[in-house]
Amino acid sequence: MRKLLVAGNWKMNKIGQDARDLFQALNREAMSLPANVDVMIAPPALYLKWFTNDSTAKITVGAQDVSHRDEAEGAYTGEISAAMLQAAGVDYAIVGHSERRTYHGETDELIRKKIAACLSAGIAPIYCCGEVLAERESGRHIEVVRNQVQTALKDFSANDLAKLVVAYEPVWAIGTGKTASSEQAQEMHAEIRTLIGELLGQDFADKVRILYGGSCKPSNAASIFSQPDVDGGLIGGASLVANDFIAIIHAGA
Ligand code: PGA
Repeated sequence: MRKLLVAGNWKMNKIGQDARDLFQALNREAMSLPANVDVMIAPPALYLKWFTNDSTAKITVGAQDVSHRDEAEGAYTGEISAAMLQAAGVDYAIVGHSERRTYHGETDELIRKKIAACLSAGIAPIYCCGEVLAERESGRHIEVVRNQVQTALKDFSANDLAKLVVAYEPVWAIGTGKTASSEQAQEMHAEIRTLIGELLGQDFADKVRILYGGSCKPSNAASIFSQPDVDGGLIGGASLVANDFIAIIHAGA
């Protein structure tokens, strides 16, 4: 039985006290969150230590990105290494988000290096994949996502990838208000799990968590999360509103 993960990706949102207020609002609810759901938030990097240092914190913290360099330190301006995240008490890092692919030219090969950097520092990578609208409309969505996953996971063993989380995020659904239907999500999640089984064995495939992301909200979360191969969600916009995010977490109960 896989435990659900509901992860909030704040993106470049919440300035100063607003970030603290949102964190505190979620933290207040943490005691009464469903036991079968893990909860993680990924604030802007500047705030990570505020939250990991907070002794009252009950919510797991993740980074939105990580350097692909496997060195812990080095002359790489602007980069944050996986070892630094680990030392700061961070448990997860989102890698390969479509906004990084689109605005920062991240390739599947670079994303593979980010996964490797996370794994060597003990950070759980949340690896994002997903097709753009034209790829879905031309019927190539499954092939596109299979290729992404295959490139990202090549050369790793099931042992290496023990902490891996996959997030299927159809790009046409991110921030657009258009959600994949539960059937579309289930179809792709089942494909991804089958592929992971082919690459890494059925035992591993049965255990790996595959999240859905893309305009997930309180009104659609329960039906998406109830699909057999959907193990929670990566939530953008709705994770910025405490009550919406909490409602989505409860939809997994
Ligand atoms: P959204 O973003 O929920 O705002 O669509 C999801 C994501 O980008 O992870």
